[in-house]
Amino acid sequence: MTLFDSRRRPLRDLRISVTDRCNFRCTYCMPKEIFGPDHAFLQREELLSYEEIARLARIFVAHGVEKIRLTGGEPLVRRDLDHLVVQLRAIPGLKDLTLTTNGSLLKAQARGLKDAGLERITVSLDSLDDAVFQSMNDVGVPVAVVLGGIEAAAAVGLSPIKINAVVKKGVNDHTIVDLARHFKGSGHIVRFIEFMDVGATNGWRMDHVVTGSEIVEMINAELPIEPVEANYRGEVARRWRYADGTGEIGVITSISEPFCGDCTRARLSPEGELYTCLFGVRGHDFRALLRAGKSDEEIAAFLSSVWRVRDDRYSEIRSEDTVGLRKVEMSHIGG
Ligand code: GTP
Ligand code: 5AD
Ligand code: SF4
Ligand code: SF4
Repeated sequence: MTLFDSRRRPLRDLRISVTDRCNFRCTYCMPKEIFGPDHAFLQREELLSYEEIARLARIFVAHGVEKIRLTGGEPLVRRDLDHLVVQLRAIPGLKDLTLTTNGSLLKAQARGLKDAGLERITVSLDSLDDAVFQSMNDVGVPVAVVLGGIEAAAAVGLSPIKINAVVKKGVNDHTIVDLARHFKGSGHIVRFIEFMDVGATNGWRMDHVVTGSEIVEMINAELPIEPVEANYRGEVARRWRYADGTGEIGVITSISEPFCGDCTRARLSPEGELYTCLFGVRGHDFRALLRAGKSDEEIAAFLSSVWRVRDDRYSEIRSEDTVGLRKVEMSHIGG
């Protein structure tokens, strides 16, 4: 059964954040000054267990979800993530199961994740220049570690691999053509993401944004590209292919060209709150229902009541007032 929101958008994707912790401190996501040693992360008993997550996922799939993406924080810092993958993989009707990671722990886990039933993977990597990358992850992890993770994922067949690069003006924009060139012909797809005003702590300003069309122009000047049709309605990235046939890139333009009209995504936080928009201020508490012993039917009825009234289109109505809202953090809800 498919659920539609008040704008006739079906529920199709579920993004599940399994932890609010991360071993990176990307300046655009978890700035050190705020996510320091005293920051209060969620305690173990507050997190949904893998069994609780899988139970919710099963109900969501029965109501139209076809694709699940695991996120965080950094999902690979949560112990035995492959156990969750096994449980999700077993859900009948789920068509796509994937994960977004910073790649630093991937080398050790790629094989286990593949064997558990993960199909493909997205790895974040903002620059191939070590000084630039380290200034962005802010914990000194070198590029080679992430490249090693990508290689390991490719070797076990977690493909196609997508590489996510957030572009911030004056920080890494001078290195994006190199990033594109490095992966051209590899079969991996690099996606450049406009720096977004997610959360309330990353100091976002419009003049930090390099727009998708500026990114396309920079790449096209050196590596000619042409636009390609979307793979499916509502695809987040705009696709471009190399004119010489050596692959494609994507550009994610939440700021300059919002895509709320086709947004079919729901997001589950590590403690079981459902957000109907990446820029949400508050979630809907599913953990309370799980822990009160509610039936699948009762949980489904709650989901239906939440989705039917959904009206979100934050990126389309962004303004000075909305930018300042106390929105949920990216590291909590997983992007
Ligand atoms: P595939 O098409 O399955 O590869 O996935 P995807 O593009 O949804 O994946 P990914 O999780 O890698 O998202 C890429 C970037 O797009 C991240 O920075 C996300 O935060 C951003 N993004 C994904 N969904 C939304 C959305 O609904 N709204 C906004 N504003 N940004 C989004
Ligand atoms: N703007 C754009 N993308 C972001 N990400 C994290 N924070 C931001 C932001 N403020 C990216 C991560 C990851 C993806 C899920 O979201 O780098 O690739
Ligand atoms: Fe960086 Fe992702 Fe960690 Fe945020 S969650 S600090 S974007 S690695
Ligand atoms: Fe969907 Fe909200 Fe992103 Fe718009 S801003 S595409 S409604 S998650």
